[in-house]
Amino acid sequence: MSGLTRYVHDDSGPARADALTATATATALPYPDGWFCLAFSDELPPGGVLTRTLMGEEVVLFRTRGGVLRAVRPYCPHLGAHLGAGGAVEGENIVCPFHRFAFDTSGTCVATGYGLQPPKAALTRYDVCEVNSSVYVWRHAL
Ligand code: FES
Repeated sequence: MSGLTRYVHDDSGPARADALTATATATALPYPDGWFCLAFSDELPPGGVLTRTLMGEEVVLFRTRGGVLRAVRPYCPHLGAHLGAGGAVEGENIVCPFHRFAFDTSGTCVATGYGLQPPKAALTRYDVCEVNSSVYVWRHAL
């Protein structure tokens, strides 16, 4: 399995997708640091959600109704649902398809589908920019 990352957990119970950790023996692939083009701007209209792959990992891109562009890790911090598989933009938030937790443009959870106080949870954001009608995401090894 040389050159590939293996993910493990301790089997003591279900693990959120984000709780899985790379093994210490895995080697980093030789990707450079930098901005990488993941989409053209017209692929992400207001309310749009896209899943793209960057260095072997998925990234969810979305644009709010007000036009704010964001790139996040795809896994909901609640129970790990993939935001690119049914996640939807509602106003300035992206809403998880499972239990309708909503996350604002800072990644902070601002509402739940149960109407309860939102937990102190947040999406992991990537730096993203838009240049010459293209969407770029920053990737750094650390
Ligand atoms: S898994 Fe996303 S709200 Fe429950």
